[in-house]
Amino acid sequence: MTQMFIGNPHFTIKDIAVNASCPSNIALIKYWGKYAHQMPANPSISFTLNHCKTNTKMIFKANAPFTVKTFLSGKEEVQFAEKIAKYFRNIEAYLPWILKGSFEIHTENTFPHSSGIASSASGFGAIAKCLVEIERQFTAQEQKAEEKDDIDYTLKKASFLARLGSGSACRSLYDGLVVWGKTPEVQGSSDLYAVPYPNEEIHPIFRDFNDWVLLIHEGQKSVSSTVGHGLMNTNPYAERRFQEARENFVPMKEILKSGDIERFITLVEHEALTLHAMMMMSAPAFILMKTGTLEVINKIWNFRKETGLPLFFTLDAGANVHLLFPSSVSDGSSIPEFIEKELLPHTQNGGVVKDVMKW
Ligand code: DP6
Repeated sequence: MTQMFIGNPHFTIKDIAVNASCPSNIALIKYWGKYAHQMPANPSISFTLNHCKTNTKMIFKANAPFTVKTFLSGKEEVQFAEKIAKYFRNIEAYLPWILKGSFEIHTENTFPHSSGIASSASGFGAIAKCLVEIERQFTAQEQKAEEKDDIDYTLKKASFLARLGSGSACRSLYDGLVVWGKTPEVQGSSDLYAVPYPNEEIHPIFRDFNDWVLLIHEGQKSVSSTVGHGLMNTNPYAERRFQEARENFVPMKEILKSGDIERFITLVEHEALTLHAMMMMSAPAFILMKTGTLEVINKIWNFRKETGLPLFFTLDAGANVHLLFPSSVSDGSSIPEFIEKELLPHTQNGGVVKDVMKW
């Protein structure tokens, strides 16, 4: 039990409806492997996206039997409701009022449902935001003034709760560059929640970055992240990988400060390929990349060799390719045209989601 987030036992419940919106994020140093209670095996760092978001409305009926109904774009999702009910039961110690009423949760993603863009990060982020807002309203009378206004604490608690739903979700609570997992390289970092990367340590080139997601394969992936994380428990390379991710924070910190884009590219692409290498070295092995993923990677490498332009990629636990390039070089460059002409044909349905990390 994490003492600092134990819920205030003095609360007054009432019927309430709250709304929250939370963006998705894309990891640069990846979280892949975890221990009990959603503790990460290594620290990770991500960019929070600006456009790919989940908007959630949560309706709580006080004193009704505990039930959860969920709706995605107006359509009832029974399986998701079961998952959320289980999650709510798990976090009761932190929100002691949570089982004392019924929930109706309506969510909508701003990105296409079938896109394969992870909705669990933005989804659990938005749910956690709704929950801390309800808690704030239920305990407003009982709290001391300084506690009530402690935005830092509220965000931290939302990040903590989001983590218990889905690990990467805890990073979505903050804008820009966000770290989850304890590392000596980032002061205040924790395995329990995410923290924003210190602004004064970030070169301006990283403050306006494009992330165009090429939808190579739409629809369900063959192995879920949860199963993938679990396979790290028996992966003979896991310990070395966790150590490498920890070590990668040292160059990452230097790069973020200096703005050395060449080193950034090398590190970020290495992290993406290592994630997928871990999948291939799991038992049983699995491959989430598709032919299109590999074609795109090779074309990006050739394009960089020919033009010297900083277009590079990262990958999630899926086939889609996140195309990364700083906004400062893309305007008027051949990057957008290259993507349109050369890379888009490798997508299943010509799909690309154009997002940006700007804050
Ligand atoms: C490859 O956060 O989706 O995107 O904690 O089981 O919900 P659970 O897994 P999830 O894993 C994301 C893994 C990743 C890398 C990352 O975001 O760091």
